[in-house]
Amino acid sequence: MISKLTIDRIFETARIEEVVADFVQLKRVGGNYRGLSPFTNEKTPSFYVSPAKQIYKCFSSGSGGNVVGFLMELEKMTYPEALRHLANRYGIEIEETERTDEDKEAISRRESLYLLNEFVAKYFSKVLKREEEGMQVGLAYFKERGFSNESIERFELGYSLSQSDALLQEARSKGHSKELLIELGLVMENERGAYDRFRERVIFPIHNLSGRIAGFGGRTLRSDKKIAKYINSPESEIYSKSKLLYGLFQARKEVVRKDLCYLVEGYTDVISFHQAGVENTIATSGTSLTEDQVRQIKRLTNNVAILFDGDSAGIKASMRGIDMFLKEGLHVKTLLFPDGQDPDSFARSKSSQEVMDYLAENVRDFLVFKIEFLLAEAADSPIQKAEAIREVIRTLALIPSDIDRDVYIRESARLLQVEEKLIYSETDRLRQKTDQKSPPDRRPTMALVKEVPTDEGVESREKEIVSLHQERHLAHLLLTYGTHICRFMPIVDGKFVPGTEETEESVASYIVQELETDGLVFQHPVYASIFLEFQKAVLENQIIPDAQYFLRHEDQSIVREVIHLSEGKYKLSDWNSKGIYPKSDLDTLERNVRESVLRFKEKMLHHIIELRKNDLQIAEDTMEIMSELYQLLQLQKTIQRLVGQEV
Ligand code: UTP
Ligand code: MN
Repeated sequence: MISKLTIDRIFETARIEEVVADFVQLKRVGGNYRGLSPFTNEKTPSFYVSPAKQIYKCFSSGSGGNVVGFLMELEKMTYPEALRHLANRYGIEIEETERTDEDKEAISRRESLYLLNEFVAKYFSKVLKREEEGMQVGLAYFKERGFSNESIERFELGYSLSQSDALLQEARSKGHSKELLIELGLVMENERGAYDRFRERVIFPIHNLSGRIAGFGGRTLRSDKKIAKYINSPESEIYSKSKLLYGLFQARKEVVRKDLCYLVEGYTDVISFHQAGVENTIATSGTSLTEDQVRQIKRLTNNVAILFDGDSAGIKASMRGIDMFLKEGLHVKTLLFPDGQDPDSFARSKSSQEVMDYLAENVRDFLVFKIEFLLAEAADSPIQKAEAIREVIRTLALIPSDIDRDVYIRESARLLQVEEKLIYSETDRLRQKTDQKSPPDRRPTMALVKEVPTDEGVESREKEIVSLHQERHLAHLLLTYGTHICRFMPIVDGKFVPGTEETEESVASYIVQELETDGLVFQHPVYASIFLEFQKAVLENQIIPDAQYFLRHEDQSIVREVIHLSEGKYKLSDWNSKGIYPKSDLDTLERNVRESVLRFKEKMLHHIIELRKNDLQIAEDTMEIMSELYQLLQLQKTIQRLVGQEV
């Protein structure tokens, strides 16, 4: 891991306006810089960089963050990758923290596997371009398929010789071990000895999202039906078929820029499309989609268009896989190529502009496509039609957004010629069933309360969080004054009484302990993460973090929220100069903190009481709820009295 010291040096040295200028043309406007957003195709500049705050803000895509966040967003780098990029740009030497021996071993093992793959890819590429057989067989084949030199470079294509141990010999002569070659599946062994897996095939390296080569696909040039057309690297520590998407590394920027991803079936489809200028194209490599893959795409865009070969026998089989996109809330379009055509052959027979026009004109909504496909298949059979309706309802029930689902239900009812009402009730029924299956909540609870309602996940919309304002205020206090020491008033006999030396503690410690004793947590996912870090520091007696620390956080949603807090009503003007809360105001700080904690508790309690009242209406045995409710109301009174004492 990169040491804390190095991270600090990187943040102190890197200038966001310089780093952004590597990608975006910036013009000075007042104290800021402005340019065209690199995230969208806008025509009027609405992308700003603030040198003073060292942040960027993009008004057309809504994103914003610090210099590391910018690289993560634009270049799809991971946090360490972005840090390394900056260290490299500013000539900062990276100091690694000590790792455990196990960590070191795991990392160096993976690293050596990657290095070996990279060596092998270079070798295959050299064979393709320089060796007799490579040129006459491999390169000639790619040329015949119309692949340009740029495409061959961009996808690092290669050729593996027919000599059965050519790679093994070469790798050994360069000091690579046979064991690792075997582990990566590049070399196989049987009674007769060791031999190259990919011999006599053209090679398609498969990159992971950060551009490292995880494995290979190899296509035979023989038309012998007994030989598999493609073979791929077997699963290894760095190659997992279900996690990789072919071309995603090369396509990722364009997927973000176009806010759309084309999904095709094969390696050659991807390459031909990129060559035709449609660079937001990736492939699943002949396997059905996995949740992992869907999530990777979702990180880049919410829109996918699936392009089926004209003769695709697998359309029906792939439909289930496509449902996964809908379930994750993506918008799915589809397109069927004319009979006998696949994206590769189509792109080759048309100009770049024709390909783009064809795509734009012919993509159709996936669900509509699916309904028409199933109806056509059912023809006049009532049984099959009923099954088609059930199948469509199963799909509809997966759509998470109420609005999207509503629109689709109405459209489906029209196409299937069934009552909307029926589809509504059936999808509701299915949705309830799946809701029940979600795992139970395991967060801590308030002292008297059986369960504190929690808002699950990042999906939860802000306005649904009842205690949003109170949480925001507490987060602001933690970030700004977390380390300040106050003499907090303890509660004696249900009343606040003046504090003594014994009750002196930091604001962070006070807030953490107060919430701890009642088992309260923040509902807002980002405030909850911030709180957790304070909680950890307080409970483990470590240095209490400050705003500066969070501004350099790996989790960019935290960085954004902290920037947001600094901009709005909660101006954190004194972030950089610690301990400047004016002496005369120390009393107000103490009171402010105490009151904010109470208001948060009051809000939560109120919410819980409302929930219990609801329970009361539908419960069969009301006694238990009644007594709980009574205790809750008592607690509420106490808190209200305490708040009253404040004003
Ligand atoms: P296709 O048979 O459609 O191949 O398989 P293709 O990509 O169009 O290749 P060309 O145009 O004939 O050269 C689609 C994808 O399925 C995987 C490969 O990833 C291929 O790109 N596949 C196919 C295999 O893994 N093994 C096979 O035997 C066949
Ligand atoms: Mn093909």
